[in-house]
Amino acid sequence: MKQTLIIANWKMNGSILANSKLLTGMLKFSNTANTELVICPPFPYLHQVKEYIVGSNIKLGAQNVNENNSGSYTGEVSADMLKEFYCRYVLVGHSERRSLFQESNGIIAKKITQAMDAGLTPVLCIGESLAQREKGDAQSVILEQLSCVINDIGLKKFKSVVIAYEPIWAIGTGQTASPEQAQKVHRMIRQYIYGLDPILSKNISILYGGSVNEINAAELIKQKDIDGFLVGGASLKPDSIETICKLKI
Ligand code: 13P
Repeated sequence: MKQTLIIANWKMNGSILANSKLLTGMLKFSNTANTELVICPPFPYLHQVKEYIVGSNIKLGAQNVNENNSGSYTGEVSADMLKEFYCRYVLVGHSERRSLFQESNGIIAKKITQAMDAGLTPVLCIGESLAQREKGDAQSVILEQLSCVINDIGLKKFKSVVIAYEPIWAIGTGQTASPEQAQKVHRMIRQYIYGLDPILSKNISILYGGSVNEINAAELIKQKDIDGFLVGGASLKPDSIETICKLKI
């Protein structure tokens, strides 16, 4: 059976002191949780987090990676560098990167290739805006985001990708998708993949993200096609992330 995957996306939050308090709290429960827990801190704190989690069940991830291997890309970070800093996962195509940093599906596909070539597991983030949902375009937007990447990197490579469905209207708004709304989209994603490769559709992890917290997570995780969470705000609160990681699945 697939292990439930919980990814903590700290976004641009934290400090050496705040991180050490949070990590001390997380280490207390990490070995008893039912889940694979991944922390994605801002780049400058990768080493600090690695020092804390070494020897524990917690894994390290990054929030972004550049689509090139190396060279004159001031301010950017390569997949090989992340690997050297013990990252196992990297978020790719988060909606904040798509909207604030103009990341296209084409760039996202290149980032996924870089990540995989370095031995990292890419977490492909997809999801529709409120306007797209209200226009009835959610499904076509999501399938376009998925198919662009699959067509670019090929189905064989796509087998190692984790998918995170994050409806943009639910991110940081406190307005989570209802379990039924989330399940409907997750099922649609899994069916799409079933059409390409039935075995992959069973094995691939599809995470939900968007205002997940210690209260709504219990119902969301009961949904058949939700395999874990990508958590923003609640991952900065030790008690909240502990409850989410210890849910009975
Ligand atoms: P929130 O959990 O704060 O809504 O953030 C979700 C998210 O964007 C995780 O990547």
